[in-house]
Amino acid sequence: MPIAMNYRHIYHAGNFADIAKHVALLYCLEALKRKESAFFALDSHAGRGFYDLQAAEAAKSGEAERGIQRLIEKSIGDAALAGYFSAIRARRGKRLARYPGSPALIAGSLRLQDRALFVELMPAEARASMREIESLGRVRTEIGDGYAALKAFLPPDERRGLVLIDPPYESLDELKTMLQAFADAYRRWPSGTYLMWYPLRSATQRSLVHARFEALRIPKMLYADLAVHPDDAGVGLAGSGLIMVNPPYGADDFLQRAYEVIHGAVAAAGAGYVEVARLTPELMAK
Ligand SMILES: C[S@@+](CC[C@H](N)C(=O)[O-])C[C@H]1O[C@@H](n2cnc3c(N)ncnc32)[C@H](O)[C@@H]1O
Repeated sequence: MPIAMNYRHIYHAGNFADIAKHVALLYCLEALKRKESAFFALDSHAGRGFYDLQAAEAAKSGEAERGIQRLIEKSIGDAALAGYFSAIRARRGKRLARYPGSPALIAGSLRLQDRALFVELMPAEARASMREIESLGRVRTEIGDGYAALKAFLPPDERRGLVLIDPPYESLDELKTMLQAFADAYRRWPSGTYLMWYPLRSATQRSLVHARFEALRIPKMLYADLAVHPDDAGVGLAGSGLIMVNPPYGADDFLQRAYEVIHGAVAAAGAGYVEVARLTPELMAK
């Protein structure tokens, strides 16, 4: 597997796509905590623990400025995002100095009995995660291929938990690789909650992504799409999408409301849309 040398998440940390993904991730983690029994979280493309929003890379892209900083400014009081703002330590009237990546958010959600594994291909990012993460529960970071980890570590002994698959989409085959890895993981662990991220670039590409997931014929799939630019804007990323498999109770309504708030704060002059719906039913017909 070639190492993804070009992708560096520091340029994108705290952008609208990170916000959308992390709001959904935290909702799933909170839902897992409704039961006392232990859970396991596997983050296959973990990145680092925290991203310095004052770093030159973040300033150069301006993505956090148009994303999380604007969201805090406009929507800090909104009840739908209260849990998210608390998890990222946002304060009214204050700019955020560092943005937590998914490992920090997962680690911050663990209880003593819970466990998480973060897998990251880039050694520098993985080592940063090892240094930065603190948690009540047990956490481990591995340097390696996240797809291989899905094979190696599922199903977990806990039999409850979630998997986040959040690749950088540098390769044209990434969606295919992710679909295969997910289908294989699901066969071995059909009761886990899976969250899979994909970019939204055009209406055609979005329909294709949905169709490829639907073709797996796996029940209880929800999609949550948030676009903040028109499809034809010519920007790299018009929007951010998530497939959630085995979503926790209430996820549909929660994501619709939360994404509307995010859209209202960060979309370019009202461009784009929010769409949260079921891709597959509760039971698949034979
Ligand atoms: C979108 S970023 C992850 C962001 C992180 N999940 C978050 O939400 O904060 C994708 C990460 O995957 C890493 N990566 C790329 N290919 C990988 C692979 N095959 N296995 C594990 N990590 C990989 C990249 O180095 C990058 O840090």
